[in-house]
Amino acid sequence: MTANDRFFQTKQAAAVLKHGILARYPTVFTTMTSVGRVDGRVVYLDGYAGPGRYEPEGDAAEGEPGSPLIAIRTAETVKTWKRTLHCVFVERNRTYADNLRTVLAEDAGPGLSYEVLDGDVQGHVDHVLSVAGSSPLFAFLDPFGTALPYAELRHTLLGRDTRLITEVLLNFNVHMVGRIGGYLTGDEEDEETTGGRSATLARMDAFLGGPWWQDEFRNARLSNDEGSAARAAMHIVEQFRRKVHDDTGFQSFAVPIRRRPHHNPLFVMLLFYRHAAAPYMFNESVSKANEEWRHHQHNIETAELLESLNDEQPNLFDVDDEGYTARYLEERVDKAERKLEEEWITLIAENIRHHVKSGPLPVEARLTDIHGTTLGLARPMHLTRAWDRLAEEGVVERRLPDKKLRMRRQTIYPVSR
Ligand SMILES: C[S@@+](CC[C@H](N)C(=O)[O-])C[C@H]1O[C@@H](n2cnc3c(N)ncnc32)[C@H](O)[C@@H]1O
Repeated sequence: MTANDRFFQTKQAAAVLKHGILARYPTVFTTMTSVGRVDGRVVYLDGYAGPGRYEPEGDAAEGEPGSPLIAIRTAETVKTWKRTLHCVFVERNRTYADNLRTVLAEDAGPGLSYEVLDGDVQGHVDHVLSVAGSSPLFAFLDPFGTALPYAELRHTLLGRDTRLITEVLLNFNVHMVGRIGGYLTGDEEDEETTGGRSATLARMDAFLGGPWWQDEFRNARLSNDEGSAARAAMHIVEQFRRKVHDDTGFQSFAVPIRRRPHHNPLFVMLLFYRHAAAPYMFNESVSKANEEWRHHQHNIETAELLESLNDEQPNLFDVDDEGYTARYLEERVDKAERKLEEEWITLIAENIRHHVKSGPLPVEARLTDIHGTTLGLARPMHLTRAWDRLAEEGVVERRLPDKKLRMRRQTIYPVSR
């Protein structure tokens, strides 16, 4: 059994964040981009779809939904608002593709519009573009390793007419870059032959758009201290984002995905977008998905702790009541969440205080400056509190009530003295 086969046996913590984003943002994309369109139609490509569901765990009757079922839920939701989300699922593994057809036949409600295609996504991109026509297109690319060759991505999905709405969400396997980069620096030892390694490097060159990344990786790795491979891999992600922007004009929003909070990222979800509203809307989805992920981490830690409690050994929770321990841990998590939120509000307030000195700050256009390191963690409710705090201090003008003008359309003005 390969690592890829094992992938669908247990839903990993990293998938909680990935699926949390998928459960939210495509709904926002579909509703926003179809406003004013007569047919209300949007096309969704899930290019590396998988079998549709994970395998059931423990006593569960069925496994957790995979990305196609999440897309289908989105299609069901937007259908109630008279929008059509046409989903195209592509899966190269025949068994998974068949399983996906079965899962969708059982699960998808009536009147939904979707197709499942066998084979390599590369062979289906032209079909997807023609199915999309002038409709907004959202493409989710979630390979195990490298995705579509860069030339293909650039000239097809990212090469659509700039008047059409296109976004691509790429789950970039940063851990793989660190591992394969190790072939260049002699740090990675595995069983691949020299020929196997050259083929792997060639695949990586194709994915990243040339061998440019090899020298970048070697140089970034020079310090050779602990964690430098992970840092070098993140440097390649940054260079890749810059390259896409230079070549296509698409900007990107990056979301690191970790197994545990203090680990190096395994993946970076990259949203490539053109529309000015995208980062604001995406940030809100990511922030909520990150909250869900922290709760998932907490549940893992609680389960581990409860399991380790042993009557024969004295422990911190010397109370013969699992419910008490779980409640105590729950309260501790709530406290930690409130502390985190307070830190974000302070950081956002400091960013605003600093940037507003140079002039008004339109929220949508200056989101990155306003959020700084809280991007992907904090959301409008935290920005509102930071803004109100500075207004109380007399640093900035008060905001308009959200009902009057959406928060993302507002501008933070310094108080003129
Ligand atoms: C990480 S899994 C996808 C997980 C799925 N997106 C989810 O979240 O439930 C990657 C999938 O892509 C498939 N795959 C790999 N290379 C492919 C290709 N070139 N074209 C289409 N599918 C491919 C694999 O068989 C595997 O099922």
